[in-house]
Amino acid sequence: MRVTETAREMRAISESWRSAGERVGFVPTMGALHAGHLALVQTAREECDRIVTSIFVNPSQFAPGEDFDTYPRWLERDSKLLMEAGCDALFAPNVEAMYGGSSVELSPSGERVFVEVGEGIGGLWEGAERPGHFRGVATVVTMLFHAVVPHRAYFGEKDYQQLRIIQRMVHNLLFDVEIVPCPTVREPDGLAMSSRNARLSTEEREAAVTLSRALQAGASLVKGGERDAARLERVMREVCGAEPLIALQYAAVVDTETLSPLDSLGERPARFLISAHVGDMHLIDNIAVPPV
Ligand code: PAF
Repeated sequence: MRVTETAREMRAISESWRSAGERVGFVPTMGALHAGHLALVQTAREECDRIVTSIFVNPSQFAPGEDFDTYPRWLERDSKLLMEAGCDALFAPNVEAMYGGSSVELSPSGERVFVEVGEGIGGLWEGAERPGHFRGVATVVTMLFHAVVPHRAYFGEKDYQQLRIIQRMVHNLLFDVEIVPCPTVREPDGLAMSSRNARLSTEEREAAVTLSRALQAGASLVKGGERDAARLERVMREVCGAEPLIALQYAAVVDTETLSPLDSLGERPARFLISAHVGDMHLIDNIAVPPV
């Protein structure tokens, strides 16, 4: 596996594969890899000739006071996992290489260009909870796409709003990259895999499964004929309310495309979204709700 820290070298590697007619698949990550990331690499392996993974904890998508400093950085362990998974290249730049300073603030911020995400899809849910988050994500994904020049890029559905925003960005800004959504990988008890799970205490880990239980409680009501979004949201809130370690941020029934809130389920596919703090950790989850 080739390992590089510079966009220039990464692009040269990718261009050499592309000019040999090989299809390049890309899995962008912030490291602390788990089975969900490795499933993305596996899917990319099945569909592409060469696989690139990036590991970069991106400061511009963390607000002040969030967990940028404590986010796990396990480069050695992660590179070993990627090698075993059959990854061909690892792009692991540092903040200096990406932003020209040791933090985003150090680069002359008035001079920087960012990719702005419209309030319609970027201001809702995680966008409201974490102002500036999706601007940071859209900006760094743009930079990563320019460094890696992939044919296809693989994103997990666990970060559903991020996935929809990247799809919108690629469409609106005419990127020549196919975005491949991949299903959420779950622990045996249903908890969606996340790099942040590793930092939960034993009690918090037990409580965290409440998020997927709340989503499942909503899904069972739909099976029983419930269509009213307010009632479905109330049940998800009640499931979370019974667990003292969960501080719920939102439980919402939304349109699967626009992510705008729905009054009731109908002919269009919907999604249940949920977000909470469990101790200091911010966790999110979602499930698809087929048209009824
Ligand atoms: O989902 C993530 O891990 C990050 O948001 C991403 C897409 C790698 C951008 O930093």
